[in-house]
Amino acid sequence: MNKKIRVWDLPIRIFHWLLVSCIIASFITVNIGGNAMQWHAYVGYCALTLILFRVCWGFVGSYHARFFNFIPSPNSLREYLQGQTKAVLGHNPLGSFSVIALLFSVGLQAATGLFANDDIAFEGPFAKYVSNAMVELLTSIHRINSTILIILIGLHLSAIIYYQIFKHENLVKPMLVGDKEIDPSEEAKYSPTDLGRASKDGGLQRGFALLLLSLIAVILGYFITAS
Ligand code: HEM
Ligand code: HEM
Repeated sequence: MNKKIRVWDLPIRIFHWLLVSCIIASFITVNIGGNAMQWHAYVGYCALTLILFRVCWGFVGSYHARFFNFIPSPNSLREYLQGQTKAVLGHNPLGSFSVIALLFSVGLQAATGLFANDDIAFEGPFAKYVSNAMVELLTSIHRINSTILIILIGLHLSAIIYYQIFKHENLVKPMLVGDKEIDPSEEAKYSPTDLGRASKDGGLQRGFALLLLSLIAVILGYFITAS
């Protein structure tokens, strides 16, 4: 019987799929334009809340969510690229760069949006606090980074398809249900310590995550509505 190990806790999974929904919605709304720009801003605020939550969860969350447990040292990255390391349950050393790049790019996109101006009728809530030159600069970064984000998402999806086709590893199912299923005959591929490290995902962790997310949303909402 396959061994089931909880890798992605519920907060990470909800974070991931909500983030995907926000990004899709922000691209749709900006393409519609006009009044939909207000919705572009709303989904952007949600994306920013999610990213801030994920950054905090990277320090206080469950084992596989923590940055310190998946950001590789140059040595471990080299060993991974040379095929000298065991398989890993969480993000692999190369994948972790894509995770950090995606988090950074989405965060930058949402943050610069707060100061952006579409030269028609819509501007981000903090644009009035900075000079015109700064608004122009941040709007340009918002535009350029949207292309970088599309490239990163393309690479992200290509990596997932690559794992499915060439390594016969379905990464999407664990991101949906939380567990990785390890066939006993494949246990040797993993390091015993990694196999012993499931992510805690009980009521306490989930309650704490909800509290943290709500707190971030309230603080961010306060600054946006007060502006
Ligand atoms: C992760 C969240 C976001 C994503 C993925 C996103 C994406 C985009 C994209 C793809 C464009 C079109 C860029 C182009 O014309 O080449 C755009 C434009 C714009 N976005 Fe966002 N955006 C986000 C968040 C926000 C937020 C929070 C605000 C403001 C509250 C905002 C305000 C604007 C404005 C004003 C423009 C028009 C800029 C222009 O005319 O060049 N965005 N955004
Ligand atoms: C808007 C598009 C997307 C963005 C911005 C995005 C972003 C991310 C981020 C930030 C992570 C890291 C999770 C964490 O540790 O917090 C991640 C992981 C993951 N994403 Fe996405 N994602 C997107 C679309 C998708 C889609 C469409 C799928 C599935 C078809 C997918 C499947 C996965 C999987 C399987 C992982 C875990 C990878 C691993 O095992 O290391 N993502 N994604």
